[in-house]
Amino acid sequence: MIGSKRFAFAALTMAVMCASAPVVAADQVGPQGDAANGKQIYLRDACFTCHGRSGQGGVYRGPAPILAQTALPFDGFRALLRDPPGDMPAYSEAVLSDKDIADIYAFIESLPGPRSPKETSSSQ
Ligand code: HEC
Repeated sequence: MIGSKRFAFAALTMAVMCASAPVVAADQVGPQGDAANGKQIYLRDACFTCHGRSGQGGVYRGPAPILAQTALPFDGFRALLRDPPGDMPAYSEAVLSDKDIADIYAFIESLPGPRSPKETSSSQ
């Protein structure tokens, strides 16, 4: 638990530092990640087998939540990866660094997520 407090503090410090940097298409606060690299990790570490290639959710081992357009803040996102509540395997820092998680988070935030029929029918 001491460790997670330290992480939380580090993330907070990073968030404060990033606040002054130009933000690309971010409507949620989180460390700036590299979405392209995040996609590679997402595929490499097999997140897609359960959550779908577009983060649309899946049913590989029981239902896995939709990740695209996640409402989770970065801290909550990382905490879930480190210590998932249910069937998801835990990803320790040896497997996924905080930077990797930030990249995955950026990738997930870049996903369009489910669209309403209205949006789809007015496609240009
Ligand atoms: C074996 C299937 C499986 C794999 C692989 C997997 N997940 Fe999950 N994930 C789940 C399930 C099931 C849940 C629901 C919570 C639980 O059961 O632990 C979940 C929950 C989550 C959540 C919380 C979503 C929410 O809105 O509550 C996030 C974020 C997440 N996964 C991200 C990832 C990422 C990133 C990876 C790859 C590094 C990954 N998962 C790999 C099955 C998986």
